[in-house]
Amino acid sequence: MAQINQNYLKLPGNYLFSTIAKKVQVFSEENLEKKIIRLGIGDVTQPLVPAIVDTLHKAVDEMGKAETFHGYAPEGGYEFLRKAIQNHYQKRLVDIDLNEIFVSDGAKSDSANIQEIFSSNNRIALCDPVYPVYLDSNVMAGRTGNYQSDLEKWTEVIYMPCTAENQFIPEFPRKKPDLIYLCLPNNPTGTTLNKEQLQAWVDYANKNSAVIIYDAAYEAYITRENVPHSIYECEGAKTCAIELCSFSKNAGFTGVRLGFSVVPKELKVEGVELNALWGRRQGTKFNGTAYIVQKAGEAVYSRKGQEQLKEQLAYYQHNASLITEGLTKAGYQIFGGVDAPYIWMKTPDQMTSWEFFDYLLEKANVVGTPGSGFGPSGEGYFRLTAFGSLEDTKEAIARIQRM
Ligand code: MLT
Repeated sequence: MAQINQNYLKLPGNYLFSTIAKKVQVFSEENLEKKIIRLGIGDVTQPLVPAIVDTLHKAVDEMGKAETFHGYAPEGGYEFLRKAIQNHYQKRLVDIDLNEIFVSDGAKSDSANIQEIFSSNNRIALCDPVYPVYLDSNVMAGRTGNYQSDLEKWTEVIYMPCTAENQFIPEFPRKKPDLIYLCLPNNPTGTTLNKEQLQAWVDYANKNSAVIIYDAAYEAYITRENVPHSIYECEGAKTCAIELCSFSKNAGFTGVRLGFSVVPKELKVEGVELNALWGRRQGTKFNGTAYIVQKAGEAVYSRKGQEQLKEQLAYYQHNASLITEGLTKAGYQIFGGVDAPYIWMKTPDQMTSWEFFDYLLEKANVVGTPGSGFGPSGEGYFRLTAFGSLEDTKEAIARIQRM
Protein backbone atom coordinates (compact mmCIF):
# COMPACT_ATOMS: atom_id res chain seq x y z
CA MET A 1 0.00 0.00 0.00
CA ALA A 2 1.34 3.38 -0.94
CA GLN A 3 1.92 5.73 1.93
CA ILE A 4 2.21 9.47 1.82
CA ASN A 5 4.91 11.64 3.31
CA GLN A 6 3.13 12.39 6.60
CA ASN A 7 5.27 15.47 7.11
CA TYR A 8 3.23 17.28 4.45
CA LEU A 9 0.16 16.88 6.65
CA LYS A 10 1.91 18.77 9.41
CA LEU A 11 2.12 21.95 7.32
CA PRO A 12 -0.48 24.40 8.62
CA GLY A 13 -2.54 26.09 5.88
CA ASN A 14 -1.27 26.98 2.42
CA TYR A 15 1.92 28.59 1.26
CA LEU A 16 1.72 32.23 2.42
CA PHE A 17 1.58 33.82 -1.01
CA SER A 18 -1.06 31.36 -2.24
CA THR A 19 -3.30 32.30 0.72
CA ILE A 20 -2.87 35.99 -0.07
CA ALA A 21 -3.55 35.48 -3.79
CA LYS A 22 -6.80 33.65 -2.97
CA LYS A 23 -7.97 36.36 -0.55
CA VAL A 24 -7.23 39.07 -3.09
CA GLN A 25 -9.03 37.17 -5.83
CA VAL A 26 -12.19 36.92 -3.72
CA PHE A 27 -12.02 40.63 -2.89
CA SER A 28 -11.47 41.59 -6.50
CA GLU A 29 -14.39 39.44 -7.73
CA GLU A 30 -16.65 41.08 -5.17
CA ASN A 31 -15.39 44.59 -6.00
CA LEU A 32 -14.99 44.61 -9.76
CA GLU A 33 -14.95 48.41 -9.96
CA LYS A 34 -11.99 48.83 -7.59
CA LYS A 35 -8.43 49.10 -8.85
CA ILE A 36 -6.30 46.95 -6.59
CA ILE A 37 -2.61 47.84 -6.19
CA ARG A 38 -0.44 44.82 -5.48
CA LEU A 39 2.56 45.47 -3.25
CA GLY A 40 2.39 42.02 -1.65
CA ILE A 41 4.53 39.34 -3.24
CA GLY A 42 7.97 40.56 -4.23
CA ASP A 43 7.36 40.24 -7.95
CA VAL A 44 9.01 42.71 -10.31
CA THR A 45 6.98 44.84 -12.72
CA GLN A 46 9.54 46.43 -15.03
CA PRO A 47 10.30 44.68 -18.35
CA LEU A 48 13.56 42.94 -19.15
CA VAL A 49 16.18 45.48 -20.23
CA PRO A 50 17.11 45.68 -23.97
CA ALA A 51 20.53 44.02 -23.52
CA ILE A 52 18.79 40.93 -22.16
CA VAL A 53 15.94 40.93 -24.67
CA ASP A 54 18.41 41.19 -27.60
CA THR A 55 20.43 38.28 -26.22
CA LEU A 56 17.31 36.17 -25.77
CA HIS A 57 16.29 36.79 -29.40
CA LYS A 58 19.73 35.80 -30.65
CA ALA A 59 19.79 32.69 -28.48
CA VAL A 60 16.36 31.62 -29.75
CA ASP A 61 17.63 32.01 -33.32
CA GLU A 62 20.62 29.83 -32.46
CA MET A 63 18.27 27.16 -31.16
CA GLY A 64 16.46 27.22 -34.53
CA LYS A 65 19.53 26.18 -36.54
CA ALA A 66 21.07 22.71 -36.52
CA GLU A 67 24.65 24.05 -36.29
CA THR A 68 23.98 26.20 -33.23
CA PHE A 69 21.27 24.15 -31.55
CA HIS A 70 21.79 23.20 -27.87
CA GLY A 71 20.34 20.20 -26.07
CA TYR A 72 20.86 19.40 -22.40
CA ALA A 73 22.95 22.01 -20.64
CA PRO A 74 26.15 20.85 -18.95
CA GLU A 75 25.81 19.89 -15.28
CA GLY A 76 26.42 22.93 -13.12
CA GLY A 77 25.68 25.32 -15.98
CA TYR A 78 27.41 26.62 -19.13
CA GLU A 79 30.94 27.77 -18.62
CA PHE A 80 30.21 31.18 -20.21
CA LEU A 81 27.72 31.95 -17.45
CA ARG A 82 29.81 30.50 -14.63
CA LYS A 83 32.77 32.60 -15.86
CA ALA A 84 30.61 35.73 -15.87
CA ILE A 85 29.50 34.93 -12.30
CA GLN A 86 33.10 34.26 -11.27
CA ASN A 87 34.18 37.66 -12.68
CA HIS A 88 31.37 39.36 -10.83
CA TYR A 89 32.65 37.86 -7.56
CA GLN A 90 36.21 38.88 -8.43
CA LYS A 91 35.09 42.51 -8.58
CA ARG A 92 34.27 42.08 -4.88
CA LEU A 93 37.68 40.47 -4.33
CA VAL A 94 36.08 37.09 -3.78
CA ASP A 95 37.69 34.13 -5.58
CA ILE A 96 35.30 31.36 -6.52
CA ASP A 97 36.27 28.30 -8.53
CA LEU A 98 34.06 27.58 -11.57
CA ASN A 99 33.25 24.16 -10.13
CA GLU A 100 31.92 25.78 -6.99
CA ILE A 101 29.10 27.44 -8.97
CA PHE A 102 25.88 25.53 -9.70
CA VAL A 103 23.47 27.29 -12.07
CA SER A 104 19.81 26.68 -11.25
CA ASP A 105 16.31 27.90 -11.98
CA GLY A 106 16.28 30.23 -9.00
CA ALA A 107 17.05 30.74 -5.33
CA LYS A 108 13.63 29.53 -4.21
CA SER A 109 14.27 25.98 -5.43
CA ASP A 110 17.87 26.03 -4.21
CA SER A 111 16.85 27.22 -0.77
CA ALA A 112 14.19 24.49 -0.59
CA ASN A 113 16.42 21.74 -1.99
CA ILE A 114 19.71 22.36 -0.23
CA GLN A 115 18.49 20.79 3.04
CA GLU A 116 18.38 17.38 1.27
CA ILE A 117 22.14 16.94 1.55
CA PHE A 118 21.99 17.20 5.35
CA SER A 119 20.90 14.63 7.89
CA SER A 120 17.28 14.78 9.00
CA ASN A 121 18.67 14.92 12.55
CA ASN A 122 20.18 18.34 11.94
CA ARG A 123 18.68 21.13 13.96
CA ILE A 124 17.88 24.28 12.01
CA ALA A 125 18.01 27.87 13.23
CA LEU A 126 15.86 30.47 11.50
CA CYS A 127 15.47 34.18 11.83
CA ASP A 128 11.94 34.98 12.88
CA PRO A 129 10.32 36.41 10.71
CA VAL A 130 11.73 34.54 7.73
CA TYR A 131 11.12 33.67 4.05
CA PRO A 132 8.68 30.74 4.51
CA VAL A 133 10.45 28.38 2.10
CA TYR A 134 13.29 27.62 4.54
CA LEU A 135 10.89 26.42 7.21
CA ASP A 136 8.35 24.66 5.00
CA SER A 137 11.00 22.67 3.13
CA ASN A 138 12.39 21.47 6.46
CA VAL A 139 8.91 20.55 7.66
CA MET A 140 8.47 18.43 4.54
CA ALA A 141 11.77 16.74 5.31
CA GLY A 142 10.68 15.93 8.87
CA ARG A 143 13.30 18.04 10.57
CA THR A 144 11.10 20.41 12.56
CA GLY A 145 9.26 18.30 15.16
CA ASN A 146 5.63 19.14 15.88
CA TYR A 147 3.70 22.31 15.33
CA GLN A 148 2.45 24.05 18.46
CA SER A 149 -0.48 26.04 17.17
CA ASP A 150 -0.81 28.14 20.35
CA LEU A 151 2.78 29.39 19.96
CA GLU A 152 2.81 29.13 16.15
CA LYS A 153 6.17 27.41 16.52
CA TRP A 154 7.76 24.05 15.73
CA THR A 155 9.21 22.13 18.64
CA GLU A 156 12.58 21.32 17.01
CA VAL A 157 13.26 24.65 15.31
CA ILE A 158 15.51 27.27 16.86
CA TYR A 159 13.87 30.65 16.36
CA MET A 160 15.99 33.79 16.37
CA PRO A 161 13.58 36.71 16.81
CA CYS A 162 14.40 39.80 14.75
CA THR A 163 12.26 42.71 15.87
CA ALA A 164 12.54 46.45 16.38
CA GLU A 165 13.65 45.67 19.97
CA ASN A 166 16.93 44.09 18.80
CA GLN A 167 17.25 46.25 15.66
CA PHE A 168 16.47 43.12 13.63
CA ILE A 169 19.86 41.61 14.46
CA PRO A 170 19.61 37.89 15.24
CA GLU A 171 21.26 36.82 18.47
CA PHE A 172 23.31 33.65 18.79
CA PRO A 173 20.92 30.97 19.97
CA ARG A 174 21.32 29.24 23.34
CA LYS A 175 20.78 25.79 21.78
CA LYS A 176 23.45 24.82 19.27
CA PRO A 177 22.15 24.76 15.67
CA ASP A 178 23.56 22.59 12.86
CA LEU A 179 22.14 24.60 9.98
CA ILE A 180 21.65 28.35 10.14
CA TYR A 181 19.57 30.15 7.52
CA LEU A 182 20.46 33.79 6.95
CA CYS A 183 18.84 35.95 4.29
CA LEU A 184 20.65 39.28 3.92
CA PRO A 185 19.50 41.86 2.99
CA ASN A 186 16.56 40.34 4.71
CA ASN A 187 13.28 39.19 3.36
CA PRO A 188 10.88 40.23 4.87
CA THR A 189 12.27 42.97 7.14
CA GLY A 190 14.42 44.73 4.53
CA THR A 191 17.13 45.15 7.17
CA THR A 192 20.66 43.80 7.00
CA LEU A 193 23.91 43.15 8.89
CA ASN A 194 27.13 45.05 8.49
CA LYS A 195 30.45 43.32 7.82
CA GLU A 196 31.40 42.94 11.49
CA GLN A 197 28.00 41.54 12.41
CA LEU A 198 28.11 39.00 9.59
CA GLN A 199 31.72 38.11 10.42
CA ALA A 200 30.55 37.26 13.95
CA TRP A 201 28.07 34.75 12.46
CA VAL A 202 30.77 33.20 10.30
CA ASP A 203 33.02 32.84 13.35
CA TYR A 204 30.15 31.36 15.34
CA ALA A 205 29.36 28.81 12.61
CA ASN A 206 33.00 27.76 12.26
CA LYS A 207 33.37 27.45 16.02
CA ASN A 208 30.23 25.33 16.34
CA SER A 209 30.72 23.25 13.16
CA ALA A 210 27.45 24.61 11.82
CA VAL A 211 26.67 25.41 8.18
CA ILE A 212 25.17 28.75 7.13
CA ILE A 213 22.73 28.71 4.22
CA TYR A 214 23.15 32.28 3.04
CA ASP A 215 20.44 33.68 0.78
CA ALA A 216 21.86 36.71 -1.03
CA ALA A 217 18.91 37.21 -3.41
CA TYR A 218 18.68 40.92 -2.60
CA GLU A 219 22.38 41.87 -2.56
CA ALA A 220 22.02 44.18 -5.58
CA TYR A 221 19.90 46.53 -3.44
CA ILE A 222 22.68 47.24 -0.95
CA THR A 223 23.49 50.94 -0.84
CA ARG A 224 25.67 51.21 2.28
CA GLU A 225 29.42 50.71 2.11
CA ASN A 226 29.96 48.44 5.08
CA VAL A 227 27.31 45.89 4.11
CA PRO A 228 28.70 42.74 2.46
CA HIS A 229 27.22 41.63 -0.88
CA SER A 230 28.50 38.10 -0.38
CA ILE A 231 29.17 36.12 2.78
CA TYR A 232 32.52 35.19 1.26
CA GLU A 233 33.66 38.75 1.92
CA CYS A 234 33.99 37.52 5.52
CA GLU A 235 37.08 35.64 6.58
CA GLY A 236 36.56 31.90 7.00
CA ALA A 237 33.16 31.82 5.26
CA LYS A 238 34.30 29.20 2.76
CA THR A 239 34.55 26.60 5.51
CA CYS A 240 31.04 27.20 6.80
CA ALA A 241 28.75 28.80 4.21
CA ILE A 242 26.74 28.02 1.11
CA GLU A 243 25.54 31.07 -0.82
CA LEU A 244 22.33 31.22 -2.89
CA CYS A 245 21.85 33.90 -5.52
CA SER A 246 19.05 34.90 -7.83
CA PHE A 247 18.55 36.85 -11.06
CA SER A 248 14.93 37.57 -10.11
CA LYS A 249 15.25 40.80 -8.24
CA ASN A 250 18.41 42.31 -9.78
CA ALA A 251 17.51 41.56 -13.41
CA GLY A 252 13.74 40.99 -13.44
CA PHE A 253 13.91 37.22 -14.02
CA THR A 254 10.99 36.21 -11.79
CA GLY A 255 9.26 34.87 -14.90
CA VAL A 256 12.43 33.80 -16.70
CA ARG A 257 13.89 31.70 -13.86
CA LEU A 258 17.61 31.71 -13.17
CA GLY A 259 19.78 31.52 -10.07
CA PHE A 260 22.87 29.82 -8.76
CA SER A 261 24.38 28.40 -5.64
CA VAL A 262 28.00 28.52 -4.51
CA VAL A 263 29.29 25.56 -2.53
CA PRO A 264 32.99 25.98 -1.73
CA LYS A 265 35.27 22.96 -1.96
CA GLU A 266 36.64 23.72 1.52
CA LEU A 267 33.22 23.24 3.05
CA LYS A 268 33.15 19.82 4.69
CA VAL A 269 30.76 18.14 7.10
CA GLU A 270 31.93 14.96 8.82
CA GLY A 271 34.90 15.07 6.44
CA VAL A 272 32.65 15.01 3.35
CA GLU A 273 32.81 17.79 0.72
CA LEU A 274 29.38 19.36 0.41
CA ASN A 275 30.31 20.49 -3.10
CA ALA A 276 30.40 16.85 -4.21
CA LEU A 277 27.14 16.00 -2.47
CA TRP A 278 25.29 18.96 -3.95
CA GLY A 279 26.73 18.14 -7.39
CA ARG A 280 25.43 14.58 -7.00
CA ARG A 281 22.00 15.84 -5.97
CA GLN A 282 21.73 18.33 -8.81
CA GLY A 283 23.08 15.82 -11.35
CA THR A 284 20.38 13.35 -10.38
CA LYS A 285 17.38 15.61 -9.91
CA PHE A 286 17.96 18.66 -12.10
CA ASN A 287 18.48 18.84 -15.85
CA GLY A 288 19.79 22.36 -16.01
CA THR A 289 18.43 25.74 -17.00
CA ALA A 290 17.60 26.49 -20.65
CA TYR A 291 20.46 27.64 -22.89
CA ILE A 292 18.59 30.79 -23.86
CA VAL A 293 18.06 31.68 -20.20
CA GLN A 294 21.71 31.11 -19.35
CA LYS A 295 22.68 33.36 -22.30
CA ALA A 296 20.32 35.98 -20.84
CA GLY A 297 22.11 35.52 -17.52
CA GLU A 298 25.45 36.19 -19.21
CA ALA A 299 23.98 39.39 -20.67
CA VAL A 300 23.13 40.55 -17.14
CA TYR A 301 26.87 40.87 -16.48
CA SER A 302 27.71 42.56 -19.82
CA ARG A 303 28.63 46.24 -19.74
CA LYS A 304 25.36 47.26 -21.40
CA GLY A 305 23.36 44.92 -19.19
CA GLN A 306 24.93 46.32 -16.03
CA GLU A 307 24.30 49.94 -17.13
CA GLN A 308 20.67 49.27 -17.98
CA LEU A 309 20.05 47.25 -14.81
CA LYS A 310 21.56 49.98 -12.69
CA GLU A 311 18.74 52.24 -13.89
CA GLN A 312 16.15 49.57 -13.15
CA LEU A 313 17.48 49.07 -9.64
CA ALA A 314 17.43 52.84 -9.10
CA TYR A 315 13.77 52.82 -10.16
CA TYR A 316 12.82 50.30 -7.45
CA GLN A 317 15.12 51.98 -4.90
CA HIS A 318 13.32 55.25 -5.61
CA ASN A 319 10.00 53.50 -4.93
CA ALA A 320 11.40 52.22 -1.64
CA SER A 321 12.37 55.72 -0.51
CA LEU A 322 9.00 57.14 -1.58
CA ILE A 323 7.19 54.50 0.49
CA THR A 324 9.48 55.09 3.45
CA GLU A 325 9.03 58.87 3.33
CA GLY A 326 5.31 58.78 2.53
CA LEU A 327 4.38 56.35 5.28
CA THR A 328 6.66 57.97 7.84
CA LYS A 329 4.87 61.24 7.09
CA ALA A 330 1.57 59.46 7.61
CA GLY A 331 2.76 58.46 11.09
CA TYR A 332 3.79 54.85 10.50
CA GLN A 333 6.90 53.32 12.01
CA ILE A 334 9.01 52.11 9.11
CA PHE A 335 12.06 49.81 8.84
CA GLY A 336 14.17 48.42 5.99
CA GLY A 337 13.93 49.87 2.50
CA VAL A 338 17.50 51.22 2.47
CA ASP A 339 19.49 48.16 1.36
CA ALA A 340 16.49 46.15 0.24
CA PRO A 341 13.31 46.41 -1.83
CA TYR A 342 11.15 45.62 1.21
CA ILE A 343 9.59 48.07 3.63
CA TRP A 344 8.65 46.63 6.99
CA MET A 345 6.18 48.61 9.05
CA LYS A 346 4.52 48.37 12.44
CA THR A 347 0.78 47.90 12.15
CA PRO A 348 -1.14 50.83 13.66
CA ASP A 349 -3.40 50.73 16.72
CA GLN A 350 -2.30 47.28 17.92
CA MET A 351 -3.87 45.66 14.84
CA THR A 352 -2.72 42.15 14.07
CA SER A 353 -0.91 41.70 10.77
CA TRP A 354 -3.92 40.03 9.15
CA GLU A 355 -6.33 42.65 10.51
CA PHE A 356 -4.19 45.33 8.88
CA PHE A 357 -4.05 43.29 5.67
CA ASP A 358 -7.87 43.27 5.50
CA TYR A 359 -8.10 46.92 6.52
CA LEU A 360 -5.64 48.04 3.86
CA LEU A 361 -7.30 45.95 1.19
CA GLU A 362 -10.75 47.27 2.03
CA LYS A 363 -9.96 50.92 2.69
CA ALA A 364 -7.10 51.55 0.25
CA ASN A 365 -7.41 48.54 -2.09
CA VAL A 366 -3.70 47.97 -1.55
CA VAL A 367 -2.26 44.48 -1.06
CA GLY A 368 0.69 43.94 1.26
CA THR A 369 1.99 40.92 3.15
CA PRO A 370 1.07 40.27 6.80
CA GLY A 371 4.20 40.03 8.93
CA SER A 372 2.86 37.09 10.92
CA GLY A 373 2.90 35.03 7.73
CA PHE A 374 6.69 35.05 8.03
CA GLY A 375 6.77 33.80 11.61
CA PRO A 376 5.43 34.56 15.09
CA SER A 377 7.77 37.52 15.64
CA GLY A 378 6.36 39.10 12.49
CA GLU A 379 3.03 39.59 14.27
CA GLY A 380 2.16 43.28 14.45
CA TYR A 381 4.25 44.03 11.36
CA PHE A 382 3.42 44.35 7.68
CA ARG A 383 5.52 44.22 4.50
CA LEU A 384 5.24 46.34 1.36
CA THR A 385 7.41 45.87 -1.70
CA ALA A 386 9.09 48.49 -3.84
CA PHE A 387 8.58 46.37 -6.96
CA GLY A 388 5.39 48.09 -8.12
CA SER A 389 5.35 50.61 -10.93
CA LEU A 390 6.15 54.19 -9.90
CA GLU A 391 2.56 55.25 -10.63
CA ASP A 392 1.07 52.45 -8.53
CA THR A 393 3.53 53.09 -5.73
CA LYS A 394 2.66 56.80 -5.59
CA GLU A 395 -1.05 56.02 -5.76
CA ALA A 396 -0.76 53.41 -2.98
CA ILE A 397 1.08 55.87 -0.72
CA ALA A 398 -1.55 58.56 -1.36
CA ARG A 399 -4.36 56.11 -0.56
CA ILE A 400 -2.68 54.95 2.65
CA GLN A 401 -2.10 58.57 3.68
CA ARG A 402 -5.80 59.26 3.19
CA MET A 403 -6.95 56.25 5.22
C1 MLT B 1 8.56 37.36 -1.58
O1 MLT B 1 7.62 38.09 -1.86
O2 MLT B 1 8.90 37.11 -0.42
C2 MLT B 1 9.32 36.77 -2.72
O3 MLT B 1 8.84 37.21 -3.93
C3 MLT B 1 9.22 35.35 -2.72
C4 MLT B 1 10.20 34.74 -3.67
O4 MLT B 1 11.16 35.37 -4.13
O5 MLT B 1 10.00 33.57 -3.94
